[in-house]
Amino acid sequence: MVLGGGAAGLYCGARLAEHGLSVLVLDHARRPAEKVRISGGGRCNFTNIHTSAANFVSQNPHFAKSALARYSPWDFCDRVAKRGLTWHEKTLGQLFCDQKSGAIIDMLVEDFTKPGGELRLETSIGEIDHRDGRFHVGTSNGPVTADRLVVATGGLSIPKMGASGLAYDIARKFGHDIEPTRPALVPFMFSGDLKDAFSDLSGVSCMVDAKAGTGPDFHEAMLFTHRGLSGPAMLQASTYWRESQPVEIDLAPGAPLLDNLNEARKAKPRMTLTSWLGTRFPARLAQFVASWPGLPGDKQIGQLSNAEMDALTTALKNWKVTPVGTEGWRTAEVTAGGIDTGGLSSQTMESKHLPGLYFIGECVDVTGWLGGYNFQWAWASAVACAAAITNR
Ligand code: FDA
Repeated sequence: MVLGGGAAGLYCGARLAEHGLSVLVLDHARRPAEKVRISGGGRCNFTNIHTSAANFVSQNPHFAKSALARYSPWDFCDRVAKRGLTWHEKTLGQLFCDQKSGAIIDMLVEDFTKPGGELRLETSIGEIDHRDGRFHVGTSNGPVTADRLVVATGGLSIPKMGASGLAYDIARKFGHDIEPTRPALVPFMFSGDLKDAFSDLSGVSCMVDAKAGTGPDFHEAMLFTHRGLSGPAMLQASTYWRESQPVEIDLAPGAPLLDNLNEARKAKPRMTLTSWLGTRFPARLAQFVASWPGLPGDKQIGQLSNAEMDALTTALKNWKVTPVGTEGWRTAEVTAGGIDTGGLSSQTMESKHLPGLYFIGECVDVTGWLGGYNFQWAWASAVACAAAITNR
């Protein structure tokens, strides 16, 4: 029995059914894999060709290695290609479906149901027990039993879409620890003057290097919004961010700023600093930066002192802003934290506390970066689990 008919649950169910096992997938939603439908702006960014364990956040950074090594992005591409679907690389190794995301869902559902898998939707899950060597699950459509139970009910992000903490409740019940959960791949919110300023800049975007907490620098686009900061760079940083920490932003990544400014000073000494900033940034952002305390926005660049030029480069390369929070579960693409990997086998996803119980996909404390990594984890953990069950 598989709880959760999302990406991981259906993919695991299909592999089990294909091996002739009798498999039931239960889901409380009206339609399966709704997150696949809305993913990648409707084109499902289904994997990333650069996937390695380094693209995931977990208390145990080694945990994902085994499953990821045994099921690569190209393995999933093979499956997609056999289905007659095509894809393109958008940026940074991100593979998007040329067809709509629904085509991936149809593939997942048919792969599961054709070999005899049964998908029961709109089914609420109640009490779960393990006795006499079997799992007993109370559901809104009556009790069900199975000798193996795969939990694939995902994380807490987007409750409106049916996200629930069921996986964590089941894990706790059978003795597992939960790594504290938090919304990840989520926009930042600000208050006061910064919120007002960002709201004025809403819609403006620029390339930055952004970093939070112990995370790496992400060289991606940042977007100003009515509430704060978003765009891929901010979503990536959010996964590493903790409350009251600043986000560190380099607004001029890779640019030899002082050299550029000195060249401009020679060529156009009477140009104002605001105008010079306007050669690098959208006009509204240039005006905002020029208004920062300590920067002489209306001064001619030919008259800038060394100290003023230093202040400018430091301000642009080391801009630190402290969000008041994130947009939370309402818009977070994933859940960071989750079922502690210490209680699971990295080879099989099986519980170390109760043989026959498995956890796969987003509910596990393995959180991918933005860009197809989370689906790759869903496929790879599903395959590891199914392989273990079918080889028994
Ligand atoms: P998933 O959430 O897919 O499935 C869980 C299933 O369990 C759901 O069908 C749900 O209805 C069911 N369920 C939950 N609680 C239940 C309960 N109590 N009883 C019964 N059923 C229950 N990733 C990526 O790699 N590329 C991308 O392009 C995107 N884009 C994206 C956009 C948006 C807006 C979001 C919210 C997320 C993404 N993601 C993504 C992340 C990706 O969608 C996510 O990591 C995977 O769907 C996780 O797969 P799972 O199968 O683990 O959970």
